[in-house]
Amino acid sequence: MPASGYRASDATEPPGAGEKTEKTARLLLLHQHPSPNIQPILFRPFQPSRHGSNMFRHVHKYEKWSQNLSFHTKKKSNSPDKHFSTPECPLRRKEFLPEYFSSWNLLAKNMPSLVQGNRMRHEVDKMPLLDHQHLQGHRQKRLAHLQLTIIASGYVWQHGDKDASKSIPKSIAVPLYYLSEELGLPPIVCHPSLALANWAPLFPDRPLCLENLRCLYTLPGGAEAEWFFLTTVMVELTFGKCIQSILSVVTSTKEENEGQAIQGLSHIADVVKQMEEVLSHMHDKLTSGTFFNVLRPYLGGYGGESSPLPEGVVFEGISDQPIKAFGGSAAQSATLQVLDALLGIQHTDGEKSFLMTMRTYMPPSHRQFVEAIENKSHSVRKFVECSNNSDLHKAYNTCLSAVARFRSYHIQIVTKYIIQARANKTTGKRFESLDNKGTGGTNLMPFLKTLRQDTMAKLVPSDNTQNGKSADN
Ligand code: HEM
Repeated sequence: MPASGYRASDATEPPGAGEKTEKTARLLLLHQHPSPNIQPILFRPFQPSRHGSNMFRHVHKYEKWSQNLSFHTKKKSNSPDKHFSTPECPLRRKEFLPEYFSSWNLLAKNMPSLVQGNRMRHEVDKMPLLDHQHLQGHRQKRLAHLQLTIIASGYVWQHGDKDASKSIPKSIAVPLYYLSEELGLPPIVCHPSLALANWAPLFPDRPLCLENLRCLYTLPGGAEAEWFFLTTVMVELTFGKCIQSILSVVTSTKEENEGQAIQGLSHIADVVKQMEEVLSHMHDKLTSGTFFNVLRPYLGGYGGESSPLPEGVVFEGISDQPIKAFGGSAAQSATLQVLDALLGIQHTDGEKSFLMTMRTYMPPSHRQFVEAIENKSHSVRKFVECSNNSDLHKAYNTCLSAVARFRSYHIQIVTKYIIQARANKTTGKRFESLDNKGTGGTNLMPFLKTLRQDTMAKLVPSDNTQNGKSADN
């Protein structure tokens, strides 16, 4: 949608915000999924990487994947930690912003109870408009984004579908909008905030595992909601174990080193199996009733046909034009997209279009990593297909099968937590709009099954004798 009607003077610019008109106009472009005309980047442009060494410029950031997921590991000498409100506790001080932002700290932390007591809107309406430029450093900005998206979610969905708020007040909308733009993230609850930037180890000196993680903030659903986010985080952290192998496979393809490729692919397959195992722990502490009826509605997006907010949501102080955005979904995770890119798994039509849109919801560095692997100069699949080495075929197929199995297991999870939960719906009709869609807006099963099918379609026949024959990727 063109940003017609938008006037820069409509926006309340925070001091020093500068020329934002063009960026603002871009943000106002609506998501048109599954239109092929979709703008790939809605919130912040980034330079896609190209080939070879260019890729390694981006991937060095991923060598320590877990460090890119959280606040807890990065500590710089000029850390603004001294401003945190409870400096005596090393964990707590990292989950609150400086005193100036105390109203954000308070409302985000208490969002679940405020929503349940129907007091969220009342409290937000009393909130002052704070200048987000007082935030210092990336960590504070990510924390603020997490807080503001949670507060906005509570504000919009407090009374269910029927009385969803068509606008978000200036005190949240203005800082959330500009912060999102600065961070290259969507101005709505999303995987990069609720999962990637929302965890800390309980005991920093102990290994990262599900039992040693906690969330900084959560949505309604208590410990069960927290478990949903932690399991998701743990899948990401597990994926981090194979970043080096992904790079090694890319290099081995370029250098035509079959032994190294076999080793790398085998390790990736093992890690993907571990990711599936971690995903299975979702069942340990999350019931489908709580997920479906209590938590999921607060992951909802703005806009679209079946939405109670078909036009989107107006960000007061930014523009009178409503903004549409998809809700929070782990489809915004880079993990599977990186694996697809590495193995040459190609999706088409609406599925591809949706996944491309989801890339624009990833942190920019994650997006760039997916692109770097996708644009690698040598195709792993072509390398495998052109080889007569049956061990290489086997390693590639094992890796591919592990990804397909992960997708199958994920489909089982979706069946339990959405399809069956929808059938057993307990809490009346407060939230209905997400009954037939994913929070990312997909038609659930057909979408997920097609992705699995696309994965299996890439298996290299075990009696492959096509040495020298060109592959399709
Ligand atoms: C209760 C748990 C979960 C449910 C109900 C669920 C549901 C869904 C749904 C409905 C979609 C389709 C996109 C959309 O419309 O939102 C999706 C996509 C996806 N989800 Fe999940 N999900 C769950 C947990 C996870 C976890 C823990 C991960 C791990 C990171 C994950 C990774 C993905 C990925 C990568 C996609 C994109 C499709 C693909 O590449 O296969 N999901 N999920």
